[in-house]
Amino acid sequence: MAFFTRSFLALSLLACAATGQLSASFYDDTCPSLQSIVRSAMSQAVSSKRRTGASILRLFFHDCFVNGCDASILLVGGERNAPPNKDSVRGFEVIAAIKSQVEAACRATVSCADILALAAQDAVALLGGPSWQVLLGRRDARTANETATRDLPSPFVDLSNLTSSFDHKGLSAQDMTALSGAHTIGIARCTSFRDRIYHDANIDPDFAALLRQSCPPKGGDDNPAPLDLQTPDLFNNKYYENLLSGRGLLHSDQELFHGGSQDELVSCYVRNETLFYEHFAAAMVKMGNISPLTGSSGEVRLNCSEDAAGWHSPTLLSLLSRAHEDDGDRHGRISFQC
Ligand code: HEM
Repeated sequence: MAFFTRSFLALSLLACAATGQLSASFYDDTCPSLQSIVRSAMSQAVSSKRRTGASILRLFFHDCFVNGCDASILLVGGERNAPPNKDSVRGFEVIAAIKSQVEAACRATVSCADILALAAQDAVALLGGPSWQVLLGRRDARTANETATRDLPSPFVDLSNLTSSFDHKGLSAQDMTALSGAHTIGIARCTSFRDRIYHDANIDPDFAALLRQSCPPKGGDDNPAPLDLQTPDLFNNKYYENLLSGRGLLHSDQELFHGGSQDELVSCYVRNETLFYEHFAAAMVKMGNISPLTGSSGEVRLNCSEDAAGWHSPTLLSLLSRAHEDDGDRHGRISFQC
């Protein structure tokens, strides 16, 4: 218990030091009921459909990696329909429902970007994973950005490619490996793992045979499979256990344990779930701090899928420079004790 309190405290301090912009108490005076509104709405959503937790967590990731955590992904238009998102990201209606409850309690005060950040934390905690203090004060972008979706990592690339796409966002190799543990929950479509189950050599043959039953060489693109076959609806460290036995669903998952720089960390997370939780929570705080719009930049949208003013000012897109901390392990060097 003391360990958790200490880690939580250390994490909060680290987070405050890292940002200087966002703060956990941002809405304490203006919307004190915010966190309980989001928590109770997420609790209902997740208990009626467990996958919703996974979908919201991914929505947050896909928001943050495209021009920062500014709720641009929620806007109707190109970004939502770009290849990494189309027919694949979900949970828009859940965020819309939470937003209307928040608006009823605190009119025109809380950004969609902050609601998404809080909902992602609740999703993880509700499915059995760690909790962390969410930093708040982000504002919403006025425009979506379709071309910047190319910053999202593809499931077909190798470790060095994955590492550089996280590095590009100021996230270390350790952050990347911990954040990928999000694939302990949720579902992927056949089109995302077909190449792996028919062509990869580093896959457990029984696992591949099982998946081929529902993911044929042609057709069935949308047929689903759990990212973690063992406990698809629970946030735990089974994802890493799967990697040790060649049961990573995506090619990119298995790249984390394939004779490369992250093998040791993956094995460590199998032995030490607490360390995984600690690293995951810290990395979520860091990811949530990618280029936030703060102060008078952007806006507080009233409807998360529509820009309130209906006009776009390019100057508002001048994003704050990201904080590049001096992580010992930015390039995969090991800086943890298992
Ligand atoms: C390391 C690079 C990553 C790649 C290449 C990747 C790729 C993917 C792909 C291809 C899917 C399945 C999409 C589909 O078939 O429709 C998926 C699902 C998912 N991803 Fe990732 N992802 C990565 C990192 C992350 C991170 C950092 C998070 C969150 C912190 C995350 C959370 C999720 C979740 C929860 C799902 C399941 C969503 C659902 O069931 O609706 N992923 N990811």
